[in-house]
Amino acid sequence: MLPLLALPLLGLAAAHTGCGGHEIARRNPGGRVIHSRQVDNTNIDPVAECTPYTYAPVSAIKSQFPAIWNSATLVPGDADAAALFASINATLNQRLPNTVPRGTHNGDWSGVNYPPADNDCWWTWKQCTTPAASTGLVADITTMPEPETWGLGFDDGPNCSHNALYNFLQDNSQKATMFFIGSNVLDWPVQAIRAKDDGHEICVHTWSHQYMTSFSNEQAFAELYYTRKAIKDVIGVTPKCWRPPFGDVDNRIRLIASLLNMTTVVWSDDTDDWKVGIANVTTQDVDNNYMKVINNAKAGAYATHGPVVLNHELNNYTMGELIKMYPAIKAAFKYVVPIATGLNITNPYQETDIVYPSFAQYTGVGNTSDAGSSSSVSGSASGTASGSASGSAASASHSAAASSASASKGSSASASTAIPAISLLGLAAAATLFL
Ligand SMILES: *[C@@H]1O[C@H](CO)[C@@H](O)[C@H](O)[C@H]1NC(C)=O
Ligand SMILES: *[C@@H]1O[C@H](CO)[C@@H](O)[C@H](O)[C@H]1NC(C)=O
Ligand SMILES: *[C@@H]1O[C@H](CO)[C@@H](O)[C@H](O)[C@H]1NC(C)=O
Ligand SMILES: *[C@@H]1O[C@H](CO)[C@@H](O)[C@H](O)[C@H]1NC(C)=O
Ligand SMILES: *[C@@H]1O[C@H](CO)[C@@H](O)[C@H](O)[C@H]1NC(C)=O
Ligand SMILES: *[C@@H]1O[C@H](CO)[C@@H](O)[C@H](O)[C@H]1NC(C)=O
Ligand SMILES: *[C@@H]1O[C@H](CO)[C@@H](O)[C@H](O)[C@H]1NC(C)=O
Ligand SMILES: [Zn+2]
Repeated sequence: MLPLLALPLLGLAAAHTGCGGHEIARRNPGGRVIHSRQVDNTNIDPVAECTPYTYAPVSAIKSQFPAIWNSATLVPGDADAAALFASINATLNQRLPNTVPRGTHNGDWSGVNYPPADNDCWWTWKQCTTPAASTGLVADITTMPEPETWGLGFDDGPNCSHNALYNFLQDNSQKATMFFIGSNVLDWPVQAIRAKDDGHEICVHTWSHQYMTSFSNEQAFAELYYTRKAIKDVIGVTPKCWRPPFGDVDNRIRLIASLLNMTTVVWSDDTDDWKVGIANVTTQDVDNNYMKVINNAKAGAYATHGPVVLNHELNNYTMGELIKMYPAIKAAFKYVVPIATGLNITNPYQETDIVYPSFAQYTGVGNTSDAGSSSSVSGSASGTASGSASGSAASASHSAAASSASASKGSSASASTAIPAISLLGLAAAATLFL
């Protein structure tokens, strides 16, 4: 094979300790125990929201997980995980024996030689999202099949200070897909529970938010498995979808995800919201990125499908930006829907008794049944650890939600964590950044 790419690492990877950094892991060392009745969804003071707390149900299960923000591996003694991994590993070795890890966990591909034929359908190389038919893998989700429909999702949550955003979504009867980082779920469990209670769809966004194709089979499995388990144990649902951090996925990683029953979701358009303050991306650039998609809609680009747009529950700016752009999005698109809804998936979790609205029910279009446009999740599940995720509080006001046992609560003060390890990849064909 030809040599191909000597990918220069443009830098910044060392700007933060990285997702695996102790700086991050230390940031919620434990604080007062909160009682669920104290939670207050109306509190939108980020400092108060981000005051660290200890949540007993999570304290009780923490030993079942890898250390937060560290690269995940099988937890010693976890026989269930080990057995499942052994079976998945055998399938991997049989079906994709030649697909191996490459690069570093923070996205340094220098010295990596990757054949331009792109046999592994490596997104980071040239944004491949359609594996060869011979692999038996399905294509990644990149768009919405419904015309004039914006697929709404937020990466990197739960963020401790998300009440202003979640209240805004609730006020607008707007549901979204939340791609949660496992380490954040254990750090901010009450915020995670709120997402489900509000009727949002929950998907996996890995344990430590690093480049998945760099991981061994075991690590990649553990990154997905323990995030899925954290979401199940804390929120009570088992997601069937995931999004690779930085879009970094190839066939090996897709196969591991698919054997965990998770569909890979990427995106069609990137707002670059997370890059503000990095690589000279300005707030004006981000506005322009949003406006590009909005103007495309006005120009008729979405007569047969809709975009899946990447933006973030990462920090005050990224959340505020969506709030700012939302009226323009709503004006330009007929429908703004969570990913599952756009795909008309009504059972987004392995728990088949949890039912979300179909596209018709959510939008009120072709309303074959009774639910209206703001219909909420109609199923319910109790978080096994929280014991409080009580199904649909979706249509409740924040004050009502606040009085319920499962309402969210802010916490943690100076939790200043960037989702880090942002490496600028000078990829041969696409010198783009992505998250
Ligand atoms: C998984 O497969 C790799 C080879 O791809 C092998 O090195 C490793 O030992 C296997 N692990 C287990 C637990 O089977
Ligand atoms: C995948 O889904 C099938 C069908 O619901 C289920 O039997 C199986 O246990 C699931 N596998 C995993 C790893 O969750
Ligand atoms: C950002 O802009 C400054 C000034 O224009 C320039 O010196 C610097 O190299 C730029 N940095 C990057 C990462 O492009
Ligand atoms: C959450 O958002 C706040 C800003 O409101 C930010 O300071 C903090 O670093 C974010 N936390 C994480 C874990 O991303
Ligand atoms: C951003 O922070 C300010 C206070 O610093 C707060 O009033 C506002 O609600 C926050 N916005 C979002 C979207 O979280
Ligand atoms: C959407 O899902 C509903 C419920 O599962 C089903 O009745 C309907 O036919 C689906 N519509 C489309 C367009 O697939
Ligand atoms: C569709 O929904 C509207 C508003 O809820 C209702 O008035 C109308 O009767 C519904 N149509 C059908 C066919 O169900
Ligand atoms: Zn991310």
